[in-house]
Amino acid sequence: MLGYALAAAAFSLAAGPALAQDGGALFNMRCKMCHQAASTPLGPALTGVAGAKIAARPDFTYSPALKAKEGAWTDANLDAFLKAPMAFAPGARMQAPVPADDARAAIVAYLHTLK
Ligand code: HEC
Repeated sequence: MLGYALAAAAFSLAAGPALAQDGGALFNMRCKMCHQAASTPLGPALTGVAGAKIAARPDFTYSPALKAKEGAWTDANLDAFLKAPMAFAPGARMQAPVPADDARAAIVAYLHTLK
């Protein structure tokens, strides 16, 4: 019983304001199968992606649609892309939308920690 209470307390602490930490768990479930520490044919590495130029890694072959996008991965662009990849860049090769606003915010916060 005490063990359960402690575990529950620890869980509610972790689920509090630690946005990037929540994002890390979501990332492991929803993104990591395609986004590893190094680029693979399944997806580009996302190290340093927050603030980086869109579709700019030399070690990944992007779709012409994403390659044609101007600008950088600002939080607003990351949010829009994750909400609806095909609306952000019609023809993009990533079909993994994250419809929930809070989940996207947590994932974007986590992307900032990938240095
Ligand atoms: C099924 C595989 C797959 C999943 C799952 C996936 N992605 Fe992707 N992701 C890709 C591919 C492929 C691209 C390149 C798309 C293109 O070239 O059109 C990409 C591109 C990106 C980019 C742009 C990278 C750059 O260098 O410009 C970001 C940011 C991104 N993904 C984030 C995420 C996040 C966050 C998640 C989880 C919510 C996720 N992806 C889930 C395959 C995936």
